Order: sequence, then C-alpha cells, then structure tokens
Amino acid sequence: MDYVDLRSDTVTKPTPEMREAMAEAEVGDDVYRDDPTLNRLEELAADMLGKQSALFVPSGTMGNLIALLVHCQRGHEVIVGNQSHIYLNEAGGMSALGGIQPCPIQNQSDGTLALLDILASIRTEDVHHPITRLVCLENTQNICGGVPLTVEYTCQVGELAHRNDLSLHIDGARIFNAAVAQNVSVRELVEPADSVMFCLSKALAAPIGSLLVGGDTFIARARHLRKMLGGGMRQVGVVAAAGIISLEQMTKRLKDDHARAKKLANGLRHVNGLAVDANSPYTNMVYLNLSTDVALSAQQITQKMKDLGVLVDAENARRFRLVTHYSIDDEAVEKTVSAFQKALN
Ligand SMILES: Cc1ncc(COP(=O)(O)O)c(C=O)c1O
Repeated sequence: MDYVDLRSDTVTKPTPEMREAMAEAEVGDDVYRDDPTLNRLEELAADMLGKQSALFVPSGTMGNLIALLVHCQRGHEVIVGNQSHIYLNEAGGMSALGGIQPCPIQNQSDGTLALLDILASIRTEDVHHPITRLVCLENTQNICGGVPLTVEYTCQVGELAHRNDLSLHIDGARIFNAAVAQNVSVRELVEPADSVMFCLSKALAAPIGSLLVGGDTFIARARHLRKMLGGGMRQVGVVAAAGIISLEQMTKRLKDDHARAKKLANGLRHVNGLAVDANSPYTNMVYLNLSTDVALSAQQITQKMKDLGVLVDAENARRFRLVTHYSIDDEAVEKTVSAFQKALN
C-alpha cells in the first residue's frame, strides 16, 4: 500500500533531483579533505549559518555528542531542557562517552528554559560541585509542539551564558523550520550560539546527514572527535550532493509543510474524539490527544489508521504527533482527516 506517512519528517526520501545529483557527484576521500562536493556543502552550511566552519556528521545525535565533547571535559555539567532530545533521546551519550553530567531543567510550554532557572542552575565554585560549562537549547523544540524559539530569547540566553563563562549550543535539528515560521534568517537565529547542529535528513529530505557549525578551532577539534567516534568519511560527496539540494532548494518550501500542518490541524479539530492542542501547529508538527470519552488507546487507533493507509505516531496511550513534510500533499491531508473519522467511529 502507498501509505500517507506522518510519523516523522525523517521518513522523507530523496527527491528525483537529489538522486540525479548523487549519481553525478564528483567525489574524493574526505579524510584527506579531497571530496569537492562535501567541501562545497560544508562551506555553504557555514555561510548560511554565519559561522566560520562546518563539519558533516552522519546523524544529529553524533553532531550533538561531538559538540558536547568539544565544549566539555569529564566532570563538567550541561544545562539542558528536561524535554530535550539531547537529554531524553540520545542514549545518554554525553554521560556514557564523555563523563559529562546533564543538569535537566524544566522546558516551559513555549519550549524555552526560563532565564532564572538557567541562572539558578549554574554551579558555584565549590569542591563538591561539577563545573557548569554549557547551555543547550533546542530549536524547534520538538516535544513542546515543534515550537520555534525567537531571536530575542536566544540572544538573552547567549548573553546570560557568556556573562557566566558558559558556551551555548543549539540543537537545531529543525532550525530552518524555526526560521521560516518566524520569517527571520537562520543566521540571525543562531547568531548568539557558539555551536549549532542541524539536520539535512529531516524536513530537508536528504537521505543521511547533519552539520555541526561553529568557529574554526571548534570545528577542527570536532573533526578529530568525529574520527575518534568512527565517523571519518570517505567518498561522502555522494550524500553531500543531496545535502546541497536540501540547503539550496528544500529550505525554500518549508512554508508549504507549515501550511499543510495548519490545514491538517483545522480538519482534525472537527473530528469527534480528538482534541488538537490549542496552539498547534507552530511549524510542521501537529500534536493532539484522544478525548477522555474515547475507549480505544492511541496504539489501537494507530493500527486502525494503518489499515486505512495512514501511518501516525502514538506518543503515549492518549497522544499523537503528526509531522508534515514534502511528500504530504493536500490529498494526503484530506485522507488523514477522513481516516481519523473512520478510525474513531
Ligand atoms: C530535536 C532533535 N535533535 C536531534 C535529533 C537526532 O537526529 P538523528 O536522528 O539524525 O540522530 C532529532 C531526531 O529526530 C531531533 O528531533
């Protein structure tokens, strides 16, 4: 069956233009820095984000881990959101591989970390304490609804961090969605950050890959750590060719995904048995709950939806997350609304 797949924007497949560019990509051995296509992608990424350098990494998780390993030493502490991907969904890499301790603080419903909470979490000089070294933000904040953090807020956190001799890392897996939703440039949005990771393999539709961007010295050290983690690349231009199309073309169409997410949310608001979150969506994610009078669980509804040709993600027994992306067209949105109607009947 040709499924409508709303489980995530990670399910996107390379576009025909990407496949063509991949087939024709000029390549070389990237460990020697000889891959012209990858070199172009890294230069483009650094330029678009307004940083000195960029490093291609196979995944967002590896990009975040490398960033934390560059910023921190063993025994250091990182202030992170308690709903952040780094804290919840990266297999505890910072502790297991870096000896770094997370200091989780509450994500507010708008995805932010309260400035006073950040301030209160910075350790004082004391022989008993770990040393606070880094603050991490996530933009868009996935679990809080795919909500974008603003330029103003990011500047405030950057200022607070730097005033206290801390660095700021942004997990910007979906930073282009955040920029498009607020009509600002990505460059402006990440200006206060010392490092940023963003993903090509999500809404930007590349098959593999993320980029870590930052200063020259930071990226040189990151390159060394990537090698240590077994992430040295060879003829990676085959993949980078798709990433260039992600940055040059796919960033320009994200507003369509946001419009379709709105259309989907509006449709689902009329389905009995569903309660779409009040302000959802902010970007390409629609979050909704089953109403209390629905006896079936989200997992049972998920199976019924699958039988109707629509794949959705149950977050827990009552909650769903639906993500729009470039293969979700208007027809797919309509099919999803009508499948939910049938599944709940
Ligand atoms: C906010 C966020 N950060 C990081 C990642 C990790 O990316 P990857 O799956 O490429 O490791 C994800 C993955 O979904 C994510 O949603």
